[in-house]
Formats: sequence, C-alpha cells, structure tokens
Amino acid sequence: MDKSIKEIINSYQDQKEIELKGWITSNRGNNKIRFISLNDGSTILNIQIVFNQEKFDLEEIEKWKIGSALNIRGIFKLTPNAKQSCEIEAIEANNISPTDDSFPIQKQEINLETLREIPHIRHRTNIFRAIMLIRSTLAKEIHNFFDSEGFMYLHTPIITSNDGEGAGEGFIVDDENKELFFSKKATLAVTGQLHGESYATGFTKIYTFGPTFRAEKSNTKRHAAEFWMIEPEVAFYELNDIIHLSDRMLKYVIKKTLEKHPEEFKFLDERQEGRLIKNLETFLNKKLQILEYSQAIEMLKKVKEKFVEKNIEYGLDLATEHEKYLADEVFQGPVAIINYPKEFKAFYMYLNNDGKSVAAFDLLVPGVGELIGGSQREVDIEKLKSRMSYYNISIEEMQWYLDLRRFGDAGSSGFGLGFERLVMYVTGIDNIRDSIPYPRTFGNLKM
Ligand code: 4AD
Ligand code: MG
Repeated sequence: MDKSIKEIINSYQDQKEIELKGWITSNRGNNKIRFISLNDGSTILNIQIVFNQEKFDLEEIEKWKIGSALNIRGIFKLTPNAKQSCEIEAIEANNISPTDDSFPIQKQEINLETLREIPHIRHRTNIFRAIMLIRSTLAKEIHNFFDSEGFMYLHTPIITSNDGEGAGEGFIVDDENKELFFSKKATLAVTGQLHGESYATGFTKIYTFGPTFRAEKSNTKRHAAEFWMIEPEVAFYELNDIIHLSDRMLKYVIKKTLEKHPEEFKFLDERQEGRLIKNLETFLNKKLQILEYSQAIEMLKKVKEKFVEKNIEYGLDLATEHEKYLADEVFQGPVAIINYPKEFKAFYMYLNNDGKSVAAFDLLVPGVGELIGGSQREVDIEKLKSRMSYYNISIEEMQWYLDLRRFGDAGSSGFGLGFERLVMYVTGIDNIRDSIPYPRTFGNLKM
C-alpha cells in the first residue's frame, strides 16, 4: 500500500523515492515548471508535486483539472526554507481519473450554503476536510474515553415501541393504518436511554453511541431530524456524579482531538480570528461552572430587556436566547444548569425533595446552547406513574420499564450528548447542517 499524504509529510525521509495517490487541489506554474497540490483526505495539508520541463510535457500537465485523481512516483524532498515543509519531485505521473469542467469545487471559496446543495462533493473543500476529520476523531475518542473508564458499549434498538422522551417526536415506522409488520405501533428511536437503564442495572456503567431520530418540525441551526447521540447510564450515580462524568468526557475528547489535529484546528482557528483554540483551551483548564436553574432565572430577570421572551419567572422553559446569553456572555464557556422545574422536563427524572424541581442538568456551551441533557432517574414507581399520567404516557407500554424498579434498580443517572452539537462546538461551525456528512432537517433530505 502507498503511504498516506499525512504519513509522507510526517516521515521526513529526504531523497527517498515514493509513490502516492490523491486528488488535485490546485495546478499552477509556467512553461518551465508546474506545481500540483495533492490531497488524499488523510490531512487537511496538501503535498506539492513539482513537474519539470525536462521530464514532462507541461502543456499536457497544465490541462489536469482540480479534482482529478493522480498516481505519482517521485522523490521526497525536504524544503525547510519554503512555505511548505516538503515537496515531491515527480518522476512519473498518471492522471488516472480526470474531472471535467463541471466539477463544482474550484480555487475560489464557495459559501457553506451553496455547498449544502452538494453534500456528496463538499468534503473536497478544506473546510469540510477539517470538520469531517475532526468529527471522525471525536467519535473515536468518545469510545476511548468510555473504554478508559470501564464502560460497556451497548447497542440499543433503533426501531422501538416506546417514546422514551414522551414528546411525541418519533418517526413512524408502522402505524395502525398500515399493513403492520410488527402488529403494533413502531417508531424510530428518539433516545436509547430507557433500554440503557435496563442494562445499567446489571452492567453498572454502559454507554450508547448511535443514530437518533426526531420528527421535530423546527427549522433551526441546531436541530436535525437524524443525529447521533452518546448516552452513558451509570447505576448508583447521582446528579452530581453524572455532571462530573460529562465534564471529564468533554475535556478528554477535546484534549485528544486538539492534539491529533493541529493542522485542521489551525485552519479553523484562522477562520475564526484565533478564538477557537483559545476558547477550547480555556475550557480544558477550568473547573466546570454549575448554576441552579432558580439562580439562572434571577440572572436573566435582571437583563430581561435583552430578550424576545421577557416574561422571566420560575417555571420558564429557557429559550435559545436565554441559554446563549448565559453561556456566551455571562460564563463565556460551558455551564451546567441544574434542578429545573419538573413541568417541562421528562417523566423519568428524579423528583427533588422540594417537590417542584427535578434532578436534571443541561450543559450549555457558547455558540451552540444545549450540548448535553441529563438527569438522575426516578426510582419510586408511584412517583413515576404519576409523572407518566401527567404526560399521558401509557403505563401499560412502559410496564417493562417500571418493572426495573422492582428488580434491583437502586437508581442511576445518565445524559445524552448530541454528537453534531459537539462537532459544532469543537469546530466552531455555526450550523448543524455542516457538522454531519448528509444532513436531514425539516423539509430537507438530499441524496
Ligand atoms: O435533552 P435530550 O432530549 O435528552 C435525551 O434524549 C435523554 N434521553 C438523554 C439522557 O439522559 N440519556 O437530548 C440529548 C441531547 C441534547 O442535549 C442535544 O445535544 C441533542 O441530544 N439533541 C439534538 N441534536 C440535534 N438535533 C436534534 N433535533 C436534537 N435533539 C436533541
Ligand atoms: Mg434536552
């Protein structure tokens, strides 16, 4: 196998003959010498291939277009005084798959909105190379983190018969009016949590990492109909324990990903006036901020004129504008809001002694808002039943879940991390449509 461009650049084997393949990202020069930049997706960096007139028909090489696939044999050379650290002096070159004039990616930058129309090709731009390489590493580091903490990796079902969040946002797979496959109503999973809880009672520490589907008709920059969610669930944990797990996890994956992608972060950081890396590093070096919901309300009240929703009282379900104010302006970094009023939080959350709040937390981060939502779980069957009837959730369908409480469930806590929102936070990209290869959002399904 040929080495990847990343391996070649890092190898420093001066004067060695090598072979490589990749796609043209630029082609410039004159009738004496030409320079082609090649990229193979292993890094955002391109490698420069130098073509001399002695060996090549440069008129022919000039015709090779951006996007074409090349096979190159050449000599690796260190170039300490040039802009790039190395280059390859071509000995032999084949254009093994030329592009034609309709290849949409050219030298001039294309805006993100236009690129959204071509999700199958947009990854051949620098910005999407950076985002998607970072996305891939974030996913692997999440697995590494949970592995390092002794978690079991659990696969929860994608087709399910229960609405785990009780919000009625499940995409319908089978309904009563169709030729039934399952002979009952079935939806795509909005969460793996309830199944996760059953395994936490027995395996103690589990996490899921899978696709999640929500038929939410909200057309925002942070909602997708199909997204990936990471959901750890830990038996015997209380709210405080799970908040700290989320903090450890974020710091671990962000630190490792920063280390593995210096070039990709440098590129993104330059686009964001040097704020990206600084903000991430500030977070890594800081203790997580934790704020009571009731205190958050007091803070928001004082500046209520800033908001569209000015009626700020205990009981308000914080809107994006409020969350952003807290994370972006007040804390200027991640902040966990805890102990929300029970009225707008899910039925499974642990009812606090005050009888009005639940042991829940939302982790808010700048630029994104809610990155994580989690809670300690209710263990008292009667309390659960009354919460379920408040939300009109069928007790019969959820009997299996209630039964867990009779079979050694001593309580657990967990959270859900929206993976695309993590990608947004870590790359600084401000639309969820640019954080996932093929976005599915309300009214939009391409390819
Ligand atoms: O806050 P949510 O709805 O919590 C749950 O689903 C719980 N079952 C989690 C748990 O305790 N195990 O969703 C968790 C996270 C959100 O904080 C958000 O980051 C992400 O999932 N999320 C979405 N991301 C993209 N598009 C959507 N439509 C999302 N809905 C939730
Ligand atoms: Mg939530």
